[in-house]
Amino acid sequence: MSNALTPIVNGLFAYCRWFISAWVDLEEDKKVIKKKYDKVKENKELEEMKKEIQEYKNKLASLEMPKMLPYKYIWTNSKGTLRVCIGYDLYNDPVWIDFYKNNHLLIAGATGYGKTSIIRTILISLMLTYDKDHLKIILVDFKNTDLPPFEIYQQVNRECIFEEDRFNKMLDSLSKEGKERANKIREKGYFNIIDYNEAEADKIKPVIVVIDEVSQICDNTKLRDKLIKCMGLVRAYGIYFIVATQIPSKDTVGKIKSHTIHRIGLATADKVDSDMIIKNANLQDIKDKGRCKYDVDGKLILTQSFFTQMEDVKGYLKYLQK
Ligand SMILES: Nc1ncnc2c1ncn2[C@@H]1O[C@H](COP(=O)(O)OP(=O)(O)OP(=O)(O)O)[C@@H](O)[C@H]1O
Ligand SMILES: [Mg+2]
Repeated sequence: MSNALTPIVNGLFAYCRWFISAWVDLEEDKKVIKKKYDKVKENKELEEMKKEIQEYKNKLASLEMPKMLPYKYIWTNSKGTLRVCIGYDLYNDPVWIDFYKNNHLLIAGATGYGKTSIIRTILISLMLTYDKDHLKIILVDFKNTDLPPFEIYQQVNRECIFEEDRFNKMLDSLSKEGKERANKIREKGYFNIIDYNEAEADKIKPVIVVIDEVSQICDNTKLRDKLIKCMGLVRAYGIYFIVATQIPSKDTVGKIKSHTIHRIGLATADKVDSDMIIKNANLQDIKDKGRCKYDVDGKLILTQSFFTQMEDVKGYLKYLQK
């Protein structure tokens, strides 16, 4: 009997083995098919995303930025900020620079592309927003050309500096003032001017130091290193440098960059210069004057800056002479 059943039992076993392996294979096949399906779906989504990006790019390209924007004063609520508008972005939104938030500013680009115009914009707008009790401005112009006309306005402290000796003394007195401010702020339990000014009645006046063409002093390495040290020392205490240069060398921009967390880059001669100012900003592709990229808060904002001439300064600041 058992002998007669053996082929049947063997047959049953063989059938079960076949069934199980077929079932396992089927499950494997299902997994492979699911994977393939997911891949196709993923590719389809990728294609759709690519299409959307291309449409977005086309839309951007069709948005034209004006080649020239005359100066315009845009009012800002000054509470808790020290900010000015320098122009408009691609979407026609104002582009703001806030010294309280981002401290020292670097403006760099090839000669004749609009650095001084941006400095004029910042100076006019600051003076229209903050009066002499709320702002002090120090001017340094080693070419002694573009900044001296600002000497006559109330917020500007004394005459424009254009000699190394006076610049050296100015750095000494700013470092001293920085230390005094630090003591005053820390004594009351604060760490920076913003928190101090928000809570205390006797406000500390912010100081803006503008240096047009910093490379002129960078040949004097002692003075350059002193400037860089001073920049590091004073920035938490309301003393902010605006540094402009047409020479984006390692010794100028390279060193100053370590103390500037926001930067404006105008057109440059090549990619090497561009990368020195803002990494991968491709400033060498900019063709228009006043067109710049503002590197702030991890964003790169393409901006058309206002074209601000001395006539604008005279007109807007008519009532702010000393
Ligand atoms: N925002 C702007 N829009 C249009 N044109 C501008 C703008 N800014 C400057 N320009 C043009 O570029 C010229 C030079 O501008 P500016 O003196 O500001 O350049 P710069 O970068 O300071 O030059 P330099 O390196 O020689 O000091 C201006 O006379 C004007 O013709
Ligand atoms: Mg200039």
